[in-house]
Amino acid sequence: MKSISLTIFLTFIGSLCFGQWGLTQEQRDSIYQLTKADHENMKAQIGITVPNRPGPSGNSSDPNAANSDESKVVDYTLPKTLVFENGKQVKSPEDWKERRKELVKLFNEEMYGIVPENVPSVDWKVVSEQDTVTGKYGIKVTRLVGVVDNSAYPDISVEIDVELVIPANATEPVPVVIHYGFIGNFSFGPQTPEPTSFLFSRNEPDWKSQLISNGWGYATIVPSSIQADNGSGLKTGIIGLTNKGEYRKPNHWGSLRAWTWGVSRLVDYLETDDSVDQTRLAIEGLSRYGKAAIVTVVYEPRISLGFIGSSGAGGAKILRRNFGEQVENLAGTGEYHWFCGNFLKYASSKTVDDLPVDAHQLVALCAPRPVFISAGSPFEEGSWVDAKGMFLAGAHAGSVYELLGKRSLETMEFPPLGMPLVMGEVAWRQHAGGHSTGPNWSTWIGWAHKYWDE
Ligand code: GCU
Repeated sequence: MKSISLTIFLTFIGSLCFGQWGLTQEQRDSIYQLTKADHENMKAQIGITVPNRPGPSGNSSDPNAANSDESKVVDYTLPKTLVFENGKQVKSPEDWKERRKELVKLFNEEMYGIVPENVPSVDWKVVSEQDTVTGKYGIKVTRLVGVVDNSAYPDISVEIDVELVIPANATEPVPVVIHYGFIGNFSFGPQTPEPTSFLFSRNEPDWKSQLISNGWGYATIVPSSIQADNGSGLKTGIIGLTNKGEYRKPNHWGSLRAWTWGVSRLVDYLETDDSVDQTRLAIEGLSRYGKAAIVTVVYEPRISLGFIGSSGAGGAKILRRNFGEQVENLAGTGEYHWFCGNFLKYASSKTVDDLPVDAHQLVALCAPRPVFISAGSPFEEGSWVDAKGMFLAGAHAGSVYELLGKRSLETMEFPPLGMPLVMGEVAWRQHAGGHSTGPNWSTWIGWAHKYWDE
């Protein structure tokens, strides 16, 4: 039941927020046709002639439902993180610097794609400034737009939408949490605990009030203003502009990497804003934006903390685990655009076991910076995101954090629902609510104080 309602919810959110709301059937058909053509083009470019294997269904009553039974998880072998490609052991922080480069190259080539060298520059403009309130707290809201130079290809324009919010009473530069989301009153996922939930207070203020009351700010960045969330949009947005409206090459960036690039450009702006403490910037996102959040920590060193919400497959979930969403789903027409074209082969000519990397290494690439991996309850959120698979990615990243003198999760035992593991730089909590980071904000803030109050 929960998986069904989750699927319906995500489909609704998908069409509402990811560009298809209010479109006619004809327009939707056209998006689908263009997406299919792009998907086919990429398969042809990488020489795949066999059809993609279909992924399992997110609907638990379907005959091909994704596995949600822990006893049916089959053994898998994770690629080794602390061994160089030449077989030598990684023994020191200096070694890790080199090994990290090997792993980044693999993630670039096989999963998230490279950012081409000719990406145009961004010019930030303040659109409006307003003194207002969130909850009972005074705030200063600045609307920003990052206008991308399109002189090399004027047919495509890209304007990055951002809303920066700072406590009204701030007297010195404040830490800022960058949030992948939507501007306005709409939030992705329930932000406060559902009535049926337990283990936390229903009276908890929303995350915005919590941040402001701590003296911190937040900046919402709208991913679709950087790059569309569908395959038909790959010839537009920042990817299309850089590529002058042509198809991508197989190792070119997908939407996740493009959204990450947008955050980097926002960080460029924040570095020029005196109200922001550029040494204390975090990134937060949920679901596909949770995937984007961890990719952002990996690729943007100026981000000092991560809050990775229910990122699932393609984010902080072990892809080799046959539980919940699988590589075959990610490589389908609805999701492949998040990745580079080369990734398609792992759902056709190759399998997930051929993938030279897995999510524990994605988490490891965040080291030594602290990352908090968040999930909801399977009873509320469903099991598509594979909470345990995300926990395990965090746990298996521990060896790198320890090599760098940091604290890991220090256990391989999946903790009980609600229990926070927040003693170290890899942190974990599965809250009792649904598909949201909402009920984990207070735990995240408590953990972040450890780093931001130093
Ligand atoms: C789908 C998709 C997930 C994704 C989620 C989302 O469920 O399969 O990988 O995280 O949508 O809404 O972002």
